[in-house]
Amino acid sequence: MSRRRVAAANWKMNKSFAEAELFVERLLEDIDPDKTEGVHIVLTPPYIHLQNLVEMLTLNEGIAVAAQNCHHEAQGAYTGEVSASMLKSIDVDAVLVGHSERRQYFGENDMIVSKKIHRALENDLMPVYCCGETLEQRESGAHLGTVTHQIEAALTGLSAQQMQQLVIAYEPVWAIGTGKTATVEQAGEMHQHIRSVLERLFGKESAESTSILYGGSVKASNAAELFAHPHIDGGLVGGASLDPEEFLAIVYALGHKRF
Ligand code: PGA
Repeated sequence: MSRRRVAAANWKMNKSFAEAELFVERLLEDIDPDKTEGVHIVLTPPYIHLQNLVEMLTLNEGIAVAAQNCHHEAQGAYTGEVSASMLKSIDVDAVLVGHSERRQYFGENDMIVSKKIHRALENDLMPVYCCGETLEQRESGAHLGTVTHQIEAALTGLSAQQMQQLVIAYEPVWAIGTGKTATVEQAGEMHQHIRSVLERLFGKESAESTSILYGGSVKASNAAELFAHPHIDGGLVGGASLDPEEFLAIVYALGHKRF
């Protein structure tokens, strides 16, 4: 079964308004459509850039715009927060949910993350659900169990139809921003494991059609090797997505992948 191939750029808290605009201009100038066939490109900038990027990319159906977060309630007295319906109202396509930096620095627990997934789905946004273990959990052999628990806590109760809208990103915490990428064997093992958990929860068809991205120090130099694995359907890229040329090289590596 063919799955969506997704290359997502997570800019985190980087880029001024002018820098974001320049990135998109250069991306559109340089992109070679022959090398991106079938690849869903997703740009995930800070909130202040969203509307401008949506407008700049209206004619480029292959490039979606995602937010890095949304609040878990629908609306109300939550100073400083942004809701899923507000994102939808400016035509944002997707939203990251459960990124390990949100879990670590902003105290997001499984319950909050699960509510955010529901808010995103209610508003027809594609949730990119992030999961992954810490170094300590991997070294003690608890990595598979940790991720099983994260998946169960966040996704149990969703329908197979809702699962079609969702993408999973496996991001081992020890590989994020550290320059230490998981090996293809480590990532592949986890992706296969996640797929088996999905099969138990939602059935084989749903498990086979859910895209699972790898994130954690993906770079132009290691992307092709990672994407060659049959269970790795793309990447969520932080640091290496800040430069349009490097990001495009990663997108092209995914463009070469055929299921
Ligand atoms: P990184 O970040 O590529 O800089 O490791 C990935 C992420 O956090 O999504």
